[in-house]
Amino acid sequence: MQNFVFHNPTKILFGKGTIPAIGPETVAFGTRVLLVYGSGSIKRNGVYQQVTDSLLKAGAEIVEHPGVQSNPVLSHVQEGITLAKKQKCQVICAVGGGSVIDEAKAICAGAVVNYDVWKFFTGKKSVTCPLPLTTVLTLAASGSEMNSGMVITNEETRQKFGFANKKLYPKTSILDPEATYTVPADYTVYGAVDAIAHVLEFYFTTQDPATPVQDRLMEGLIINAMESCDRVLADLYDYQGRADLMWTATLALNGLTAAGLGKVGFPMHLIEHSLSALYNVPHGAGLSAVISGWMRLQCQATPQRFAQFAERIFDLRSGSTEERAQKGIDALKQWFEKVRSPTSLAALKIPAQDIPKIAENAVTLASVWRMPDYDCERIQTILAGC
Ligand code: NZQ
Ligand code: ZN
Repeated sequence: MQNFVFHNPTKILFGKGTIPAIGPETVAFGTRVLLVYGSGSIKRNGVYQQVTDSLLKAGAEIVEHPGVQSNPVLSHVQEGITLAKKQKCQVICAVGGGSVIDEAKAICAGAVVNYDVWKFFTGKKSVTCPLPLTTVLTLAASGSEMNSGMVITNEETRQKFGFANKKLYPKTSILDPEATYTVPADYTVYGAVDAIAHVLEFYFTTQDPATPVQDRLMEGLIINAMESCDRVLADLYDYQGRADLMWTATLALNGLTAAGLGKVGFPMHLIEHSLSALYNVPHGAGLSAVISGWMRLQCQATPQRFAQFAERIFDLRSGSTEERAQKGIDALKQWFEKVRSPTSLAALKIPAQDIPKIAENAVTLASVWRMPDYDCERIQTILAGC
């Protein structure tokens, strides 16, 4: 168990009927509110009405910044920053999935400085005193509702970069599982895959050989992500399934699992971000295509860790350490296939001859994320395994 500091300041309101609290929770930070949302799902499922009713009742003056696209782009962030400055917005309210919340975080940071927000993503500037943020989550996946990270694509450089800063935690996030009823099966699956990847990356990159508390917590989250996803696929309006998946995805990347693990990394995300930057694939779909390739390479370094994974998650106990390790990787890949998440570059219609281009793109992020062992050659090897 390594030393750690765990400080997550985000207040969570969880459950049925919590959305009407967003008004008071937001105007506590100011009445000039920038409302950030996507391309329309919240208007179709009634969440927009609930949120605006609550904000107006609480005395907010709403400035709208709609049109956030999945895998959010820098140009739209910059438009939001210009709007927030011009309208002297005092607080930002993000209503959507990880793309909406991430774009809102970038606007919070950029709205109070006079240099390009992309400088935060390349490590050239650090966040000063960002606008406060509240959120209403409508898709269980990224964990952005309770963490300080965000990921934005620079369309010009074709780079999808992410960074975190503790001043960018949302003040309050409202998690009403009923808001996710309208998430289609495919994006429900991609969200579960994203949550599983967030846990797996820490589970397999920690250098500490004795982390029983974190292991059991992470194993439980992985099992819950799979079981709740299976439940929701059986019935998209299954409240229990939606609630379990939502809270699992939030806990998968809010700092709790990493506490005590020491240095951990995001190697699968490093590669996936290039797939989303270059081909605009849904984040979770990109992850399920690269996970097995990355696991097969990583397993060579720590087969016993992978054998523990196979036993604890899939109850696979027979065979040598290496055999159990491979069986665990195969079992996870079979689950991805069962829920129809792509498990290869071919399934994403990405040709093998693009592998050098993808690796070259990923290496630029590896240098910003200080992951020197992820050079072009290693990334190409992983991609060849996908
Ligand atoms: O734009 P709308 O119309 O809302 O449609 C969205 C979008 O097309 C739709 N959707 C969202 N809620 C819905 C809904 N459709 C019906 N009913 C609802 N209730 O779903 C589509 C995908 O939404 P998006 O926000 O893109 O998905 P997700 O939540 O998976 O976010 C993906 C983004 O999160 C980033 C990814 O890189 C990607 O850009 N991540 C953020 C992280 C963080 N902040 O810590 C970590 C993650 O690893 C991830 O990288
Ligand atoms: Zn992710």
